[in-house]
Amino acid sequence: MAGKVTVVGAGFYGSTTALRLAEYNVFDTVVLTDIVEGKPEGIALDINQSRSIEGFESKVVGATTTPEGGGYEATANSDVVVITAGLPRKPGMSRMDLIGVNAGIVRGVAENIAKHSPNAVIIVVSNPLDEMTALAQLATGFPRNRVMGQAGMLDTARFTNFVAEKLGVSVGSVKTLTLGSHGDTMVPVPSRCTVAGVPLSEKLSAQEIDELVTRTRNGGAEIVALLKTGSAYYAPSAAAARMAKAVMEDAGVVMPVCAWVDGEYGISGVYLGVEAQIGRAGIVKVVETDLSATELAELKVAAEAVRTKQADVQSL
Ligand code: LAC
Repeated sequence: MAGKVTVVGAGFYGSTTALRLAEYNVFDTVVLTDIVEGKPEGIALDINQSRSIEGFESKVVGATTTPEGGGYEATANSDVVVITAGLPRKPGMSRMDLIGVNAGIVRGVAENIAKHSPNAVIIVVSNPLDEMTALAQLATGFPRNRVMGQAGMLDTARFTNFVAEKLGVSVGSVKTLTLGSHGDTMVPVPSRCTVAGVPLSEKLSAQEIDELVTRTRNGGAEIVALLKTGSAYYAPSAAAARMAKAVMEDAGVVMPVCAWVDGEYGISGVYLGVEAQIGRAGIVKVVETDLSATELAELKVAAEAVRTKQADVQSL
């Protein structure tokens, strides 16, 4: 074990991420923070008391923080920081409806994190994802390779689950890919989807694939509507925690993430969902994949949609 990870926000997303990270037994220390006094300390105590049962040694530290920066000393010199701070959606809301309120929260958190952990890799999960990732990079002033967002891991996991259920096969035999934004311009990549190595298009009709894509695109909203308060956190936290682990272990694995795109696919100057190699440096490299003409066109549409919104967040 080595290193320190901080999870900002002790809601369901943050606390589940902290639990997963602790159970991986990779980090020496997992810091969990929140502005609700006592909540992160209480959750940390609870998780630590599960250590002897689950057999992990990572120590969880809870810290109450203030928007002015109080309490952030506990996060000092983190190697990785997962930002979950912000409000979740209510039924009927789009992720974009959160932009005003969450921009203020994420900006403040990012500034405080940058002060105490100037060398950290930041993984943003707050919504609207692509915009909050761009904002966190601006607010920290960190190199762009050290700030990324979590969305593609989640969206592909949802897509994979739907395909596996539809075909009655194991999730392990299904590979899917989504690029683009974590929102309306999510770009499924059917040409890269396979079931036990066989192209998905040979297993399902175009219309069936389309239905699963639509369900994936609305995957978060479907859960928000069922929960009535709060949004998904089991699959999202699994995705974020795996990314943090890949950074700490310098794994070099390729994951779909929200990363700064600089010329790949003929797109530049925007945070966008793409595949990238993840390691200690954060984004080691954006990995371009062969896309069909339609998929590439959709990715370019997604890039322009998020570019406009990301320009807006500078003033929020
Ligand atoms: C979702 C939220 C976390 O997709 O963005 O469930």
